[in-house]
Amino acid sequence: RSPVLVAPSLLAANFLDLGKDIDMVNRSEADWFHLDVMDGRFVPNISFGLPVIAQIKKAARKPCDVHLMIEEPEKYAADFQQAGADILTVHAEACIHLHRNIQQIKGLGMKAGVALNPHTPVVVLENVIRDIDVVLIMSVNPGFGGQTFIGQSYHKIRQLSQLIKDTNAHALIEVDGGISPDNAANLIQAGANVLVAGSAVFSSPEPEKTIAAIKRGGR
Ligand code: DX5
Ligand code: ZN
Repeated sequence: RSPVLVAPSLLAANFLDLGKDIDMVNRSEADWFHLDVMDGRFVPNISFGLPVIAQIKKAARKPCDVHLMIEEPEKYAADFQQAGADILTVHAEACIHLHRNIQQIKGLGMKAGVALNPHTPVVVLENVIRDIDVVLIMSVNPGFGGQTFIGQSYHKIRQLSQLIKDTNAHALIEVDGGISPDNAANLIQAGANVLVAGSAVFSSPEPEKTIAAIKRGGR
């Protein structure tokens, strides 16, 4: 099985000195930049958007994994592609026409991701799983960094892993929220392929070591 990917979430970075944190991620064993976009409608918080991502893209030496926590994401897919998104993830709960939105994202040349809130069952993806590049299992309620990991997420990862096998799909399983070196091994064991971590990385005195530790399942 291929090594797990780590995607530090810049939501927890120091925005006054973002270039420094981007360089740290560039130097580290991290695989993707995870960029959280919040609109104050789909989630009860507002983060950053297109101009910030366009700047991050200039400094990032790794793919940009853009997690849209916004309503009507189809209106902005082309703009996020322009800004530099390599992977664009929309929430299943925000998409009335999820199948169409996935095709739109791929048609724009990006990898397509679909995120599921903690209450959304994996089975909603049954009819699109073969079209998706990444499934993002939210292991906290989206909107804020630094929240407590929801234990039920392990069960969802195993269910998703089974669905991917049963349908011969290729989607990566990405998990986001409350991840640290302490639960990385269990997440990898359950079937996670990509681990997102915000506060665990950026509040660490040695963020590069924390990234490496998550990648190795905590050690
Ligand atoms: C939450 C975001 C996460 C968040 C993770 O809505 O989608 O990506 O930044 O932060 P931590 O790792 O602190 O839970
Ligand atoms: Zn996220």
